[in-house]
Amino acid sequence: MITVELQSPTDFDGWRRLSRHLLAEGVKPDEVEWHIEGDAGTLFATPAYQPHPAPPSSSGPRVPKLFIDRARRVVCHTDTSRFIRLYRILWRLQQDGAYLSRITETDVKWLEDCDKAIRRDVHKTHAFVRFRQVNAGAAGRQEFAAWFEPTHRTLELSAPFFQRRFPNMDWIIVTPSMSAAWDGTMLRYAEGGSKSDVTPADAVEDQWRTYFKSIFNPARLKVTAMTSEMPRKYWKNLPEADLIPNLIATASERAKSMQLQPERAPNPLAEVLTRRRIGKATPAPTPQTLPETRKALSACTRCPLYKDASQSVPGEGPTNARLMIVGEQPGDQEDISGRPFVGPAGQLLDRVLVDAGLNRNEAYVTNAVKHFKFQPRGKRRMHQRPNAGEIDTCRWWLDLERRHVQPDLIIALGASAARGVLGHSIKVSDMRGKILPQPGAASVLVTVHPAYLLRLPDPDRARTERQRFAQDLSAARAFLEGTAHRTNA
Ligand code: URA
Repeated sequence: MITVELQSPTDFDGWRRLSRHLLAEGVKPDEVEWHIEGDAGTLFATPAYQPHPAPPSSSGPRVPKLFIDRARRVVCHTDTSRFIRLYRILWRLQQDGAYLSRITETDVKWLEDCDKAIRRDVHKTHAFVRFRQVNAGAAGRQEFAAWFEPTHRTLELSAPFFQRRFPNMDWIIVTPSMSAAWDGTMLRYAEGGSKSDVTPADAVEDQWRTYFKSIFNPARLKVTAMTSEMPRKYWKNLPEADLIPNLIATASERAKSMQLQPERAPNPLAEVLTRRRIGKATPAPTPQTLPETRKALSACTRCPLYKDASQSVPGEGPTNARLMIVGEQPGDQEDISGRPFVGPAGQLLDRVLVDAGLNRNEAYVTNAVKHFKFQPRGKRRMHQRPNAGEIDTCRWWLDLERRHVQPDLIIALGASAARGVLGHSIKVSDMRGKILPQPGAASVLVTVHPAYLLRLPDPDRARTERQRFAQDLSAARAFLEGTAHRTNA
């Protein structure tokens, strides 16, 4: 019997390299025992197989790509027979190129089932990892940690998703068998840990709870489907899980009361026509301060966007800010956190503001549209541009913010923001970087939206465009430095 030693429980490269040698030497599957380095069973075992240092002389086994892809995933399964079985399949594939299509073969069926289980585990990890903020990030980057218990050792398969999703925050995911950490440049894997490694609850959990409550539709509740999608074993690590029993218990009552309620958000045009028809408008009292504006905004139903968003996202910053920065609308992360420009576009904006010598904390940052407009695609919410009607309807809030803050300059980021601020559409490329005086009101500078820079595929172009963006923001700084505060003048 030959003892083969792998470096870790998910050592696919090691398994692949050693299997090539074993195959080339004609070693049959039942002549091999597979061990993981450091496992108890290896202590008194015969010396581990040492392949010849040179690669096997033949051109290597011929295997379908499908097998390699599946094997790469299936090594993450907890089935202790996985390496034996994978080698056995590899062996059979040398004699029968169509072996994988023989679904009545036990090993072929096993491979398929394990692959399904692994994909499901990765999918659940993507859906149920919940990050907690561990500090505000001394170097300006926020740091988050999450504890998660996948069924298999799948962290290496699931972590790249979080790298793509949250490239601008530092995060670590700790699982019992392994941890993955991202620092903005590199994804590193280390040994596993325990739940206590991840600090106690924070505000992010409240955001998850708000989000979950807002997407939970009692009229669509199907408990079996829900618990199959969100199996109970994951509940213990989900901040929103303790809401579920009550939401389920009260669902039918709330669904009934929803049916009895009239449609809550009339089309804004229909609302205007109705007012005209009845001859008098019934305006709500206009908020007199910024805090009153925020409060009133949280109940806004002026256009239908409030229906799908988790919450409205008001502007934030000093009440007497000289600079107001207006974006398009909250994105996915802003919708969850209730704060503007905290996601990838916001983090890029923060960096370029620093390059331009501007301090975000001294600016009032807001959006032309206060609710997130999106199209659900699978589990993701894809950003959708607000249309002119939505921007014009939401200008009511932007105008209130302008009235209360009284900035000297407004930077409009992108075409939607420019429409919100100026009241009409413009071509950003014709106007960018120029100070546009507005009689009796704050001057306006239009530039591109930072999300545009994030979408540029060509790195050289992205660098040039970022420099132009910084130049536009520098023009704003120069304007503010050369102008007295309007309200003090
Ligand atoms: N994009 C915006 O326009 N605003 C935000 O708040 C975030 C992303």
